[in-house]
Amino acid sequence: MASPITAAACTPRAVETARVVWHRRIADATWRIRLECPRLACQSAAGHFAMVRIAGRVDPLLGRPLAVYDTFRGPDDADPSGPPEERRHADFIYAVHGRFTTALATLRPGDEVTVWGPLGNGWREVPAVDRLLLVAGGIGQTSLLTLGRDRAAAGARVTFCWGAGRAGAFGELDDFRRAGLDVHLATLDGSAGLRGNVVDLLDRLVPEGGEAPGHVACCGPDGMMAAVARWTAARGVGCHVSLEAPMACGIGICFTCVARVRDADGGWDWRRTCVEGPIFPATGLVWE
Ligand SMILES: Cc1cc2nc3c(=O)[nH]c(=O)nc-3n(C[C@H](O)[C@H](O)[C@H](O)COP(=O)(O)OP(=O)(O)OC[C@H]3O[C@@H](n4cnc5c(N)ncnc54)[C@H](O)[C@@H]3O)c2cc1C
Ligand code: FES
Repeated sequence: MASPITAAACTPRAVETARVVWHRRIADATWRIRLECPRLACQSAAGHFAMVRIAGRVDPLLGRPLAVYDTFRGPDDADPSGPPEERRHADFIYAVHGRFTTALATLRPGDEVTVWGPLGNGWREVPAVDRLLLVAGGIGQTSLLTLGRDRAAAGARVTFCWGAGRAGAFGELDDFRRAGLDVHLATLDGSAGLRGNVVDLLDRLVPEGGEAPGHVACCGPDGMMAAVARWTAARGVGCHVSLEAPMACGIGICFTCVARVRDADGGWDWRRTCVEGPIFPATGLVWE
């Protein structure tokens, strides 16, 4: 039987051994996994991530960063309501790319992973605007759900635009609808939503001279985020992006994850995505 959550369990970030509660395929090569990890679950806020490793394996040796998709009290809850300090389960959604995610997809209920987190700065610098636009590409939706839900609950109008290659890439769309978001899709092959990329979708939703959003929060591949950064800059709209940089340590010591960030004198310097990000103002990054 699950032990009751205590104040001691809800302490700041720590390495935690987490049991797989359930694990299911939700879209093409995309999985959702629920872990019992009270320390991580009760501390996580929108935009946080964790370094995840498969317990007891040395291949792959290094953990990988995954966004905390959502947190829950019960093992089978679909409704994330309730005070954060009572949450003891965290869900992650991942696309199978390489060594780690291929191995992760083989785990079954009862298997264990280690999680280190919550890490990163989260979306806290995104201003409280009346109209927030969330933009995801590929697997970038994973860091945006809780931001959208929090802001919709606070009274903002939140629009969620998600672009992918084809319809089969979209999973758990109902999570975004239940969170009160207005959902729009784009696919390159036209199999769902608008045929085109996510910037084509933004052009459709916000035509030249139309009502611009108060702010944009964006996560996805670099090229897509650079295009969204140009789109927002051209309209004078503020934008924050969450970088999906490769990471080795997650705690600021290896410099694997550096990004080029503009400084006040017009130059730029390296910043560590794991500790100074992963979320940065789009205008502060050197994209090219
Ligand atoms: C803060 C943060 C949060 C993240 N959250 C998530 C998440 O919630 N879900 C998720 O699926 N991924 C997420 N990622 C990306 C994930 O960490 C990487 O995809 C990871 O490298 C996968 O490990 P792997 O061993 O399976 O693949 P690797 O062996 O690391 O890579 C295999 C191949 O896939 C390519 N590749 C790796 N990552 C990506 C990528 N993001 N896009 C396109 N190609 C890639 C590599 O270039 C390589 O060719 C996040 C990254 C960061 C920095
Ligand atoms: S991953 Fe090691 S410094 Fe960021």
